[in-house]
Amino acid sequence: MDLLGVEDLTPERVTRIMEAAEAIAEGNPPARLDGRLVVMAFFEPSTRTRLSFESAAMRLGARVLGFSDAKATSSAKGETLEDTARILSAYGDVLVMRHPEKGSAKRAASMATIPVINAGDGAGEHPTQSLLDLYTLRKELGELEGKTITMVGDVANSRTIHTLVPLLRQWGMTIQACSAPGLSWAEGDLPEVSLDEALKGDVAYWTRVQQERLPEGSTVDTSSFRLDRRLYLAHEGKARILHPLPRVDELDADMDSLGEALYFQQAANGVPVRQAILLDALGLL
Ligand code: NCD
Repeated sequence: MDLLGVEDLTPERVTRIMEAAEAIAEGNPPARLDGRLVVMAFFEPSTRTRLSFESAAMRLGARVLGFSDAKATSSAKGETLEDTARILSAYGDVLVMRHPEKGSAKRAASMATIPVINAGDGAGEHPTQSLLDLYTLRKELGELEGKTITMVGDVANSRTIHTLVPLLRQWGMTIQACSAPGLSWAEGDLPEVSLDEALKGDVAYWTRVQQERLPEGSTVDTSSFRLDRRLYLAHEGKARILHPLPRVDELDADMDSLGEALYFQQAANGVPVRQAILLDALGLL
């Protein structure tokens, strides 16, 4: 079963994945992937997403093949994504794909004959990140209904935010934005709040400026949302801080030892959640 975007995240499916991830984190995976082959097609840079998927696959007994440098593949010779997806379908049982173009995962899935998991399609969506974000939030906050989360930074171009907002709406969270100048939510239905209000909510979801998606040569002033420990403590807020990482200059390393800084735990949660996602995609949950 494909996992391409938020429209694939029905409440039943999300609950199934969350429950499996919890069981996996407790050492009781509901199924295994022995003998399966996971194909990783990464046309865009990645550290966490690619390696946590590989770790997830191997921990369940699967083997992994793929590439993380599209320049070394036939796409450099002009092969279409559709052809690549069709070919890779013959080489494995599930295809995990990251690509710089929005909509690319859907295009690949239209030709693939194995399940396709979208690991980020340009400025489009990033459903597996949103699932690990949700897992982290539930672990930390328990009940999410009525809790407030603020999306901070590049709200316009962050694909993690694009998937996370509709997903968290399903869970009854109140969602607001504290956008970088000129980088606000295009749909217009997120109220803008100050940094102070963001830090006084339950959670603040920090993001870097997606420089690679901005017109060449353009710069964004990050001073309005640059967070360090001194500033965090000065606001006397209580917000837990999430960040999909990588961070650039918007989140100082001196935040890391605060109990409210959850981003390294969040990244670690990527492994059990992606184990559950692989099992679900292969119809094993
Ligand atoms: C995010 C991504 O690739 O969209 N990274 C990730 O998967 N953890 C966020 C980002 O690159 O800023």
